[in-house]
Amino acid sequence: MIGSGTIHSTEDARRIARRRLPWMVFDYIDGAAGQETGAERNRTALDQMTLRPRILKDVSGRSLTASLFGQDVLRPFGIAPMGMCNLSGPGADLMLARLAARYKVPLGVSTMASTPMEKLIEVAEGHAWFQLYFSGDGTGTFKLVERAKSAGYETLVLTADVPELGRRPRELRHGFKMPFQLGVRQFIDFALHPRWSLATLLNGKPELANFLMDGYAFDRTESRAKATWQTLDQLRARWPGKLVVKGVLDVDDAIRLKASGVDAIQVSSHGARQLESAPAPFQMLPHIRESLGADYPVFYDSGVRSGEDVLKALLSGADFVFLGRILQFAIAAGGENGLNELWSVLSSELSTAMAQTGMTKLKDNNIL
Ligand code: FNR
Repeated sequence: MIGSGTIHSTEDARRIARRRLPWMVFDYIDGAAGQETGAERNRTALDQMTLRPRILKDVSGRSLTASLFGQDVLRPFGIAPMGMCNLSGPGADLMLARLAARYKVPLGVSTMASTPMEKLIEVAEGHAWFQLYFSGDGTGTFKLVERAKSAGYETLVLTADVPELGRRPRELRHGFKMPFQLGVRQFIDFALHPRWSLATLLNGKPELANFLMDGYAFDRTESRAKATWQTLDQLRARWPGKLVVKGVLDVDDAIRLKASGVDAIQVSSHGARQLESAPAPFQMLPHIRESLGADYPVFYDSGVRSGEDVLKALLSGADFVFLGRILQFAIAAGGENGLNELWSVLSSELSTAMAQTGMTKLKDNNIL
C-alpha cells in the first residue's frame, strides 16, 4: 500500500506512476514539446545552481510559512493549474483541493479541469485561483470570467503561452484525444493497466467540467491565437480581483505586463510543453526579477522536482513556486496518501536544505 513510506523522492512517484498508468496517460502527463530538449535545458539550469552550505547557526526553529498577496501561506509552493487531472486517478482534483485547504496554498483550477470550478473552490475552502485560456473570439472566455467571479474566485490567472497547443510527439503518437477515442491500440493499453482502467470505468471517464455551460457550446480545438494586449486590457477592466499572467519568459513582456496593471507574473515554460527552444525559465527568472524590482510579485513554475529546487527558485527571485506534473504522479502512484506523502517529502527536503544553508525562515527573511 502506497502512503506508508514508499515515496522518498519525486522520482519514486514518477517510477510507480509509470507502471500504473496507461502509456497514453503517462506520456500525456510526462511528455514535453518536440524532442524534449527544453525540459533538459531547464533541468540542467536548475542542477547547475548550487546552494551555499553555512555552519554553526542555530537553525533549530524553522518555518516554511511564506506570504502571498499579503496572506500567510503554510508552504512557499502551491498547485499549478492542470487540465484533466482526474486522468491520474479518480477524484484527483478534489485531493488537490483538500491539500490546498490544509496548507492554505493556491489550487490552480484549470479552464480544462475535470471538476467544476464551483466545487473546487468550495473544497479548497477558498484557496483556489481560476486559470483562464483565451479562446476563439473571446465570447466563451468572458463567460468563464463571469462564472469564476460568481463562484467567488478572487484571483484569475491568464495563461498566455498557448497561442497554439504545443506539439508533443509522445502524446500525439498515442492518439491522445479528449474525449478518448478507443481504437485497438488504446484498448490494449487500457487492458494492460487494469487497476487504472477499472477505477476510471467505475468512476466515469473524466470530462471537461468547466465546458458544460448553459447557452454556450465550447470547442476545445478552437484556436487561442487571437489574444492581444487589448484583450489583456479588457480582462483587467472586467476583473476586479488579482490578475496573474502565467507563461512569461521575456523581460520586455514582463515590464509591459507590470505597466498594464497585472498584479503578478508567473515565469513558466508550461513545464516545457510549449516552445521547445524557449530559454530555460529558471535562467530567465533572475533577469525578470531584476527588471521588475524587488517588491513586484513574481511566481515560478516548471521543472521543480524537490525541496532544494524550490529553495533555488526562491533564492533566484521567486516569491512563490508552483508544482505541476509531480503531484499527478504522486496521485497515480498512491492516491491521496501518495499525494500527501510526496508533499511531506518536499516539505522535509526544503526544511532540511534551509537548515543546511543556515536559514530559519522564508517570510521576512532577507531572501523573500
Ligand atoms: C499543464 N499545465 C497547464 N497550465 C495551464 O495554465 N493550464 C492547463 O490546463 C494546464 N494543463 C496541464 C496539464 C498537464 C498534464 C501538465 C503536466 C501541465 C502547465 C502547468 O500549469 C505548469 O506550468 C507545469 O506543469 C509546470 O511544470 P512541471 O512542474 O510540471 O515541470
